[in-house]
Amino acid sequence: MKILCIGDVVSRTGRDMLFKYVEELKYKKNIDVVIANGENATHGRGMARNAYNELMLSGIDIITMGNHTWDCREISIIMRKEGNVIRPANYAESCPGKGSMTFTSKSGVKIGVINLIGRTFLEPHDSPFEAADREIEKLKKQTDIILVDFHAEATSEKLAMCFYLDGRVSAVFGTHTHVQTADEMIFPKGTGYISDLGMTGPQLSILGRTPSGIIQRFLDGMPQKFEVEVGKGQFCGCIFDIDENSGKCTDIERLFLREE
Ligand SMILES: [Fe+2]
Ligand SMILES: [Fe+2]
Repeated sequence: MKILCIGDVVSRTGRDMLFKYVEELKYKKNIDVVIANGENATHGRGMARNAYNELMLSGIDIITMGNHTWDCREISIIMRKEGNVIRPANYAESCPGKGSMTFTSKSGVKIGVINLIGRTFLEPHDSPFEAADREIEKLKKQTDIILVDFHAEATSEKLAMCFYLDGRVSAVFGTHTHVQTADEMIFPKGTGYISDLGMTGPQLSILGRTPSGIIQRFLDGMPQKFEVEVGKGQFCGCIFDIDENSGKCTDIERLFLREE
């Protein structure tokens, strides 16, 4: 089966890119399930109800989050009501929502998805490695097809995660940096990997933001309001081909589509 994973969807431009590409890719590439990182879907910060509805309309099945999970307060209600939005599993247990879920594709294949957040250059959290162990144990009772969105800054931490999980999950993909890496590979025991899917949002931007404010911040270090950029968009993601019987990854196709 083919699972399309889409990197951080940023604001209106990112959501427009979903409408432009997702259904077409589903049809052309025979995609079974679509996962997208939605932490920046509403004006770069969190995901409110309107953005959630648009992601659903554009053909997304499952939404993962990250360090911007709580930026829109209604996310707690969305997670409780909808059941297809997850937040990092290594957040405190008392936090709203859950860190993993299962989803059954149209063809009747059940997959598991885990969301984790890194600890290097990010806020302190519980160990994502131990959280992965716990969530895998839960999901393995239901399916051998498990995908992990590791929302993290450091490529070392992401690689360590994939070595740690190799053979136990179908794929580990990184999100958060908004810059796609070209290091997609299948690990020795069958886990597909990419350090970062990249960003689905405005092309000519700094991680989705208007360059001028960011440059000023680098110049004088003063606080700045970082505006979300508009203009032509880009679509970043990966298609993981997973063997339904073994749960192992057999192929990875990296996607970086730019609006002309
Ligand atoms: Fe992001
Ligand atoms: Fe992030």
